[in-house]
Amino acid sequence: MEEPIALVFEDKDKLVKGFTEFFIDLLNQKEGRFSIALSGGSTPKVWFEYLAQIPKDDIDWGSVHVYWGDERCVPPDNEDSNYGMTKKHLLELIDIPEKNIHRIKGELKPEEASSQYEHELKANLSEGNIPVFDLVILGMGDDGHTASIFPHEINLWDSDDFCVVATHPTSGQQRVSLTGKVINSARSVAFLVTGKSKAEKIHEILETNDAQSPYPASLVNPTEGILYWFLDSLAASQLKDVE
Ligand code: 6PG
Repeated sequence: MEEPIALVFEDKDKLVKGFTEFFIDLLNQKEGRFSIALSGGSTPKVWFEYLAQIPKDDIDWGSVHVYWGDERCVPPDNEDSNYGMTKKHLLELIDIPEKNIHRIKGELKPEEASSQYEHELKANLSEGNIPVFDLVILGMGDDGHTASIFPHEINLWDSDDFCVVATHPTSGQQRVSLTGKVINSARSVAFLVTGKSKAEKIHEILETNDAQSPYPASLVNPTEGILYWFLDSLAASQLKDVE
């Protein structure tokens, strides 16, 4: 894979603007459908709010197919639902056809939601034997988790399946998550990470090479694609090699 690209922005608002330009460029380079896997978390929420208010003509939402990297196993109207959060802050405010929205059905039994979603990915995104996203957006938890692959279940990353059922380490909440196989097959993967609480892990992951203590986020390594780290200055504050 190519070397990861780390981009540091002064604050969350500048990051969100920079990421929007990146997203629009990527979208404009692709003919036809553009598939994106969204993430839950605090930074994507600010991005959704920003995207929802940019001029309508800047993005052809008709060509964008929206998926999720993970979902909490709750109904869509539950405040924990990643789909529900995206709907409220973005989807119901833009002109995107219903058929372009491919959600993980958190209201179903977790195993059923996972296998239905896997089926949806196979049906729509298969290239050879693997679903290929144009862009996967990820966050990173303070413990180094990404999507819903947590450190105590890091083996799920290497599952042969495209989706797995995971369990949050403290709340016990079940979640459906993409696995490493799918995330690392994407054309582009972009982490959006902000805040001081992430600084230490960002330094460890980007600047040390400690194979003894890998975090789920450190296993993101697209085989053919490019990995981008969009960071605010707080998250990047312990980096030595970035100005
Ligand atoms: C989720 C996520 C998760 C999230 C990180 C970072 O649904 O919770 O997809 O992986 O991205 O926990 O979240 P913050 O951006 O809120 O720190």
